[in-house]
Amino acid sequence: MTSPLSGRGAGGEGWPSAETITRLPKAEVHVHLEGCFEPSDVEQLAQEAGESTRPTDVTGMDLSQFLELLDWTCSLVRTPEQVARAAYAFAEREARSGVGYADLIFNPTHWPAWRHRLDAFVEALDVGFREAEEDGLPPVGLCVSLLRQQTASEAIELVDWLLEFRHPRIVALSIDGNEAAAGRTGPRFSAAFRKAADANLHRTVHAGESSGAEGVRDALELLFAERIDHGIRAIEEADLVAELAERQIPLDVCPGSNVQLGLYPDRSSHPLDSLRRAGVPVSINTDDPALMRHSLVSEYAATATTYSWDSTVLRDVARTSIGASFCDPDLRARLLTALDAWTP
Ligand code: ADE
Ligand code: ZN
Repeated sequence: MTSPLSGRGAGGEGWPSAETITRLPKAEVHVHLEGCFEPSDVEQLAQEAGESTRPTDVTGMDLSQFLELLDWTCSLVRTPEQVARAAYAFAEREARSGVGYADLIFNPTHWPAWRHRLDAFVEALDVGFREAEEDGLPPVGLCVSLLRQQTASEAIELVDWLLEFRHPRIVALSIDGNEAAAGRTGPRFSAAFRKAADANLHRTVHAGESSGAEGVRDALELLFAERIDHGIRAIEEADLVAELAERQIPLDVCPGSNVQLGLYPDRSSHPLDSLRRAGVPVSINTDDPALMRHSLVSEYAATATTYSWDSTVLRDVARTSIGASFCDPDLRARLLTALDAWTP
């Protein structure tokens, strides 16, 4: 029998169990509200909106098709009560995976009913998150996201709104969407991200999923990203991998999503572990868990099994998730202390 510190369970049959992973103190830092509606939620929302439902099976979809599905599901959400319900359900989802804090991305362009009342949308989310916290569920911070197809002036408009509104629930400016369809957009959004950085708003940037290594470079140099959402295609350029390792830029990786959307044929072809072994800080995340039918626990388990990780690696990855998160320093310290005390 090996001790936890010597990496118990490495490659062992059935290890790590769901229970072991659920108890692992961790944060989730790359998950979209838009991807958190279960098929049953979508059915209920369609009924409440008086619309006929559509299939939510994402098998074989590419990123463009997937983003269109998000547009449709989110268009069904029209009342503050529905928004608060989604926020509460998100905190419940995170609690089920043993998450101690989550940074949640939402992109206003997916929610047409709220286009001219974004403040009411955030307030409604806040109602759900506050109620969740009162019930002992984990705290959630919001990353408000631009879409790669937006214009430079729309981006500045969003940042101006964020800085004027300065809602305590909002922790970061984000950008997501399809870079392959939008082309190179780093220069277009640079002024908006500069403004956010100057105002001490955190920055997280989708890159290196539908863009290659050049997208990750632009995220760092033009968008002042503190973390990269996905970022895995940095593997295509050795110098960039070395720079990410040297600067300790965290990659918020979603292996199940990348396989689901056809970026890699299977988990063993995914570069997550090569990046980690090269010294790049990586965390594990779900991206769009409900539509992709996975959970944070199942993602940790499948990843650990694929690469025969031991408990030391699991703890390191969880530590990265907590360190990369935009939670307040007290909570970060508490989560790190709990992580040190975790017994695999
Ligand atoms: N929005 C939701 N999921 C996304 C993904 N995987 N890539 C880019 N934008 C997204
Ligand atoms: Zn994402």
